[in-house]
Parts: sequence; structure tokens; C-alpha cells
Amino acid sequence: MMMEACCDSPSIPADPDWLSRVIIRKIAKSDLPALEWDGEYRHLRRVYAISYQAQETGRTIIWVAEHPDAGIIGQIFLQLISDRLELADGINRAHIYSFRIKAPYRGSGLGSIMLEKAETCLRADSFRYVTLNVAKANHKAQRLYQRNGYQIISHEPGRWSFPDDEGIWHDVEEPAWRMQKTLD
Ligand SMILES: CC(C)(COP(=O)(O)OP(=O)(O)OC[C@H]1O[C@@H](n2cnc3c(N)ncnc32)[C@H](O)[C@@H]1OP(=O)(O)O)[C@@H](O)C(=O)NCCC(=O)NCCS
Repeated sequence: MMMEACCDSPSIPADPDWLSRVIIRKIAKSDLPALEWDGEYRHLRRVYAISYQAQETGRTIIWVAEHPDAGIIGQIFLQLISDRLELADGINRAHIYSFRIKAPYRGSGLGSIMLEKAETCLRADSFRYVTLNVAKANHKAQRLYQRNGYQIISHEPGRWSFPDDEGIWHDVEEPAWRMQKTLD
């Protein structure tokens, strides 16, 4: 069983008004190490670097949520065009992935604000649909998406491969639902 570390985890924000101090902005290259969350996501270093390169060529946008004291506490990646056109076709449909908020900052509305940020950007560029894949076991995230207007449209086998920070390839299989929202 995996136990959450207690001693070195960030603590719950003492400032009840912490959310009003959070800024959501596009990622800069110097932010990439902060996405590794002190090692928990180090294995995704190359994946993040590839996504950052995609941002440089206009294929992806990465937003981070930054608190002046806590640093980067959330992220959402938005793929505008993909090889899988049913996920993102560069014109009508875009795809959200790698969306997460650090545990102490969840449940206060930041995730919903970041989702809205991605959707607002897409509306401004006349996209009509936003898609995402959510693990079938992740009921909490599914609830959030459903409340925000996303509907399940298909099953996703959830098979993908990635090179870790040492270049060793890993295969992942995480059955998921593909969800979609039509933007007004
Ligand atoms: C999914 C995730 C990004 C949501 O972020 P979040 O900041 O917790 O999202 P929100 O705070 O907007 O919404 C979460 C819950 O808090 C509630 N909430 C929002 N604002 C609130 C407030 N001011 N007071 C009390 N509760 C609030 C929401 O109603 C929601 O309730 P629910 O659990 O019944 O659905 C976050 O839980 C996460 O990082 N999870 C791990 C990674 C993950 O699963 N990512 C999604 C992959 S598809």
C-alpha cells in the first residue's frame, strides 16, 4: 500500500484567502523543474520537455497556477493539434491532459478555475469542442468534469508509452473514459 509522506508534504495553506493570490499564467522554460513536484513526477521530465517544445511551435499551451509563497501548485496542458484528430484537430477540437493541483490546494475551486481558463482560451480561438481522458477509477475527477459540462463519449484503452528522465521507455495501460464538452 502506498502511504502519503507526512513530514515533507506541503501543509494546508494557513492563509484562508490563498486562492485570491494565485496567478494563472503560461509556463516559462524555467518553470519545468517545478512540474516534477520534488521528484514525484521526475519520470515525466522528458514528456514535459516535449510538451514545452510543442508550446514553442504553437501546438500546445501549458498553464501553471502560481502562489507567491508556495510556487507552482497546479498545471493544465492543452493540446491544440494531435496525430489523433479525434482528440485535437487544430481547428475545432482541443485536448486537455496532465491536469493536476497539488494535494493541499485541492477542493477550493482552483481546478475549476484552471479548466475555465483553458476553455476561455479555446472559445477565443473559435474551437468548438474540448476533450480529455479520465481514468475509469478516478471518480473524483469525473465528478468535477461532469459538473463542468463534460460528457462521456467513448472508452479509451489508455495505452501509451513514454521515455523517463533516464531515457528508459515505459508502457502504461490505464483504461479511461474520453469526455467531451461542447463550447458555447
Ligand atoms: C482533479 C483535480 C485537478 C481537481 O482540482 P481541484 O482544485 O480539487 O478542483 P475544484 O476545487 O475546482 O473541485 C474539486 C471539489 O472541490 C469542491 N469545491 C470547489 N470549490 C470549493 C470551495 N470553495 N469550498 C468547498 N469545496 C469546493 C468542488 O465542488 C469539487 O467537489 P467534488 O469533489 O464533490 O467534485 C485535483 O483533484 C487533482 O489534481 N487530482 C489528482 C490528479 C487528477 O486526478 N487529475 C485529473 C486527471 S484527468
